[in-house]
Amino acid sequence: MKKKFVVTIDGPAGAGKSTVSKALARKLSYIYLDTGALYRAFAYKVIQKGILPDDEKGLAALCSRIEIYLENIDGSLNVFIDGENVTKRIRSEEVGLVASTVSAVSAVRERLLSIQRKAGERGGIVAEGRDMGTVVFPMADYKFYLDAGVEERVRRRCLELLTRGGSADHKTVAGDLVVRDRQDQERKIAPLKASEDAIIVDSTCMSVAEVVEKMISIINSAYGLSHERK
Ligand code: DC
Repeated sequence: MKKKFVVTIDGPAGAGKSTVSKALARKLSYIYLDTGALYRAFAYKVIQKGILPDDEKGLAALCSRIEIYLENIDGSLNVFIDGENVTKRIRSEEVGLVASTVSAVSAVRERLLSIQRKAGERGGIVAEGRDMGTVVFPMADYKFYLDAGVEERVRRRCLELLTRGGSADHKTVAGDLVVRDRQDQERKIAPLKASEDAIIVDSTCMSVAEVVEKMISIINSAYGLSHERK
């Protein structure tokens, strides 16, 4: 039987990680794990409960009270918090920013770590986030770090918001993105960075299909096998 790999894709906001990870998972017939969704779900609860994102004690207390889990619905992982499926409700910029702030707190990262590891324990997964290759899956078979120029990332984020039917003010989106990058890169625990053994892919001038093609060819060439679903 073919070995089922753990593939990690880390990178900053708006680099195209979600689209690429989803497409890669589909091609490989693997599960797609969006770890940002877990941080967003937690942030959603923080906002709902009126807890301040920098209230470490309040966040730690919330960690011990909440029930958070992933469920496979029609081939994609949905995130539930206290029984509520919040998968679609967590995509706003506000939730993203709060997620970035609360994700710097160790109690929050610890609370979400085992859920992520459990999802990947059998392999056959494309895991997307900030610390996949460095902390969550240090023994991953393939590690990618997906980057893109800041202007291009802002453009993609605006497009994504508009596609979802929301509004996108270029200046606000650019400001939020820069704040989020800085918070994610400068936090003490599990900061956003490329693992030393990660393959860096700059997608500024590449289409999604080109990026996925490149990743597939790297995965296949190392083993001389085709892992792509025909
Ligand atoms: O990928 P995203 O935009 O959905 O992530 C939202 C925030 O969650 C991100 O700004 C930082 C945090 N996050 C994290 O700290 N570690 C991860 N593995 C994934 C997300």
